[in-house]
Amino acid sequence: MLSQERIEKQSQLNQDTIHTFEAIVGKSWPIVQAIDFARNISKSTYNVLLNGESGTGKEIFAQAIHHDYCPGGPFVALNCASIPRNLIESELFGYEGGAFTGANKNGQPGKIEAANGGTLFLDEIGDMPLEVQPVLLRVLEDKRVVRINSSKYTTVNFRLIAATNQNLFQMVQEKTFRSDLYFRLSVLAIDIPSLRDRGKDILLLAHHFLDQISREIQCEPPKLSFEVYKALVEYTWPGNIRQLKNAMVYAVFKAKNGILNIGDLPNEIKHRQTTVSVTQNNDPLPLRDIQKEAIMHALCKNKNKDEAARELGLSKSTLYRKIKEYGLK
Ligand SMILES: Nc1ncnc2c1ncn2[C@@H]1O[C@H](COP(=O)(O)OP(=O)(O)OP(=O)(O)O)[C@@H](O)[C@H]1O
Ligand SMILES: [Mg+2]
Repeated sequence: MLSQERIEKQSQLNQDTIHTFEAIVGKSWPIVQAIDFARNISKSTYNVLLNGESGTGKEIFAQAIHHDYCPGGPFVALNCASIPRNLIESELFGYEGGAFTGANKNGQPGKIEAANGGTLFLDEIGDMPLEVQPVLLRVLEDKRVVRINSSKYTTVNFRLIAATNQNLFQMVQEKTFRSDLYFRLSVLAIDIPSLRDRGKDILLLAHHFLDQISREIQCEPPKLSFEVYKALVEYTWPGNIRQLKNAMVYAVFKAKNGILNIGDLPNEIKHRQTTVSVTQNNDPLPLRDIQKEAIMHALCKNKNKDEAARELGLSKSTLYRKIKEYGLK
């Protein structure tokens, strides 16, 4: 396939999966702050740096910013950690024919040219080799790119969004990341919060994924037992939203009779460390709130209070007492 066709196909593919801000599920204070800031800066042309642990939703944010910035333009992503270091340069800048063994004899444009008129998303920017960093910086400053093995400059107009789960500032101090590139990239830095710091969003997202997966496999979403609510909120989620989503996929297939019990969660979550305090979060979620939420959920989903009590593992009288205590109807 011709290079131009390949780029267009790639752009189309990317367009198909572009998320918007509306697709970012979350109501907790840290995520609302991050979304507000991202919305504010989305229409500008400044570079953006997304900081956050793995699986927190950095790519979703990059897509949402792109969608607000130039919905018709290409969104071109390159993960600096997943391609061999010696190929990053040719992937980014492209090359003219015969640049290296195994290269396309007609040459190939790089991701920067492909992102012309749109957004270049550089994921895991901390893995960008030190020797490539000054070349990228030059392109950002000049908005011109020259392919490897060529002397012809092409003007490019793109917006860069970079993402990292490493501490770039510390890398600068350790001299493993160039300070000039860091300052250029971090003009608008957005911290994407970890799931454990997002309080009630854990349950919101769990329900969101349960509904989504159940729709896909055409079944009713299972109801959660109180123990499951508690386990989900108390777990520390090192893999963040990606891990929660995977756990919900597993749980949907394990759940029996429409109820998701603690045994239906992946091992690492059901055997969690109970010492973790959810009140360390910015958005604290005390057990009282979890219980209230679990009861509200059970009352909505079940036909009557008997069934709700059974699902929650509570006696009928305890459920009535709790309904009164929490002022529920
Ligand atoms: N707020 C959200 N609402 C709904 N789904 C989300 C949200 N944030 C992330 N996801 C989903 O979680 C998964 C991980 O998100 P994403 O790939 O954007 O994370 P990431 O920070 O880029 O991860 P990594 O550092 O591993 O590249 C994806 O399946 C994404 O669709
Ligand atoms: Mg990512």
